[in-house]
Amino acid sequence: MRSAALIGTGSYLPDNVLTNFDLEKMVDTSNEWIMKRTGISERRIADKEMATSDLSIHAARRAIKSAKIDPLEIDMIIVSTSTPDSAFPSTACSVQNGIGAKNSYGFDLAAACSGFVYGLDLADGMIKSSRYDTVLVVGAEIFSRIIDWEDKSTCVLFGDAAGAAIIQVSEEPGIIASYCGADGAYADADLLGVPAGGSRMPASAATVDQKLHTVKMRGQEVFKLGVRIMPEAAQKVLDTAGVSIDQVDLVIPHQANSRIIEAVGDRIGIDPEKIYVNVNQYGNTSAASVIVALDEAIREEHAKVGDLILLTVFGAGLTWGSTLIRL
Ligand code: COA
Repeated sequence: MRSAALIGTGSYLPDNVLTNFDLEKMVDTSNEWIMKRTGISERRIADKEMATSDLSIHAARRAIKSAKIDPLEIDMIIVSTSTPDSAFPSTACSVQNGIGAKNSYGFDLAAACSGFVYGLDLADGMIKSSRYDTVLVVGAEIFSRIIDWEDKSTCVLFGDAAGAAIIQVSEEPGIIASYCGADGAYADADLLGVPAGGSRMPASAATVDQKLHTVKMRGQEVFKLGVRIMPEAAQKVLDTAGVSIDQVDLVIPHQANSRIIEAVGDRIGIDPEKIYVNVNQYGNTSAASVIVALDEAIREEHAKVGDLILLTVFGAGLTWGSTLIRL
């Protein structure tokens, strides 16, 4: 049977580390507060001259190397991001050029923190329908460019990163089940979003003065939504696949916050040792979060060939999704 398998992953984390102690010098916060509420101890910040496509190209090259393919085999490139290089042209076109994938076309996908799972869902559909054989899915963000560095309630949470995966046609089951959802009733930029810079509120001196180009969030509401939605999405793919949570080898939830991750683990009834967590090191890297975690888990041998891996995510929109993968 024609299936879509994940045959290689890669990630890129900028070298520059911003610790909670650095943040103590920037805003009225403390390492203790951040650790207790979020579990985050540090995050990475991209160099000023780097754009999201630069991070993506590093991650994509590593994924191509681990998949042992030629970039010319790639048919389609999906770059999931909320921080593209610019409104247009797409970040995906710069990635295509950077990796020399001349036989592909590509586009950016906007689904906030759910972006990588949305991208996997698309890649899976395109491969299973015989449209394409090889797809590169990237999740990449430079949130440090859209953060209000004077707002202690958001600036401690996010980090910069990119992750990439090669999905290719296979006889063996790879992506076993995939599910994505959305509820635009929550598409309120103050709940979670960036109000200005688009067609609703174009950039002006006033929007810059009011810092409307930075992330706004009502943290407690977002927290409750994440804890409810991620387990529901995970259960949906398990039901579709006819798999019980006990059969899953590793759960990788969106790395937003360790308290959300713990609550999600409790609700889906998984042994805490089977939940992969790296939010402490990198913060919330939005669309890059689960693919960076999966790549790290593979490299550290927490995830091995043959393992059953469950991804579950949520983000602004609201958007959510889950993927069950046999590695
Ligand atoms: N350092 C110190 N104090 C802070 C702070 C910080 N970095 N950020 C907020 N506070 C203060 C607030 O000002 C408030 O003070 P007050 O009681 O004097 O008014 C107090 O801490 C409590 O704020 P609150 O927002 O209620 O905290 P919380 O327990 O909800 O924790 C979050 C805040 C952001 C950590 C939490 O809501 C959260 O994790 N939400 C989900 C965020 C997320 O994952 N977003 C992305 C989803 S994709």
